[in-house]
Amino acid sequence: MKVRNVLIMHGPNLNLLGMREPDIYGAVTLQDINRNLSKLAENKEIKLDFFQSNAEFALIDRIQQTMHDGTDFIIINPAAYTHTSVAMRDALAAVKLPFIEVHLSNVYARESFRQRSYFSDLAIGVISGLGAKGYELALEYAIASR
Ligand code: DQA
Repeated sequence: MKVRNVLIMHGPNLNLLGMREPDIYGAVTLQDINRNLSKLAENKEIKLDFFQSNAEFALIDRIQQTMHDGTDFIIINPAAYTHTSVAMRDALAAVKLPFIEVHLSNVYARESFRQRSYFSDLAIGVISGLGAKGYELALEYAIASR
């Protein structure tokens, strides 16, 4: 598999990282996360594209766009839609791209409703509980799997 174009997707409320429940999600902002990923991708012939939305339809539209924009791989934190969105699951199933599901917190150590994901069985893998490092590990995997 040749990975060149990686789409990094962030779901609802992740635009508030840094201010939002820092005891759970830490002090890191979404800009910090994206900047670190860009650094990691430097000189590796990888093009990153970043997308955050609070709107389910916008996330679905962005996933559908990958059918035409050359995206090879998706790293996605669906945030609360992880536990609710059959529609986002269907979009990922439709585009058939390999993806890794990332969560900053360990969803299995939290409320029971967070322990169900509509994405995990379609994902290559799931990283949960490693904070911002989870995105970096996912990107390393995507780079190594070219
Ligand atoms: C999250 C976990 C979800 O349960 C929650 O709704 C989020 C963030 C995480 O990164 O830990 O918004 O996906």
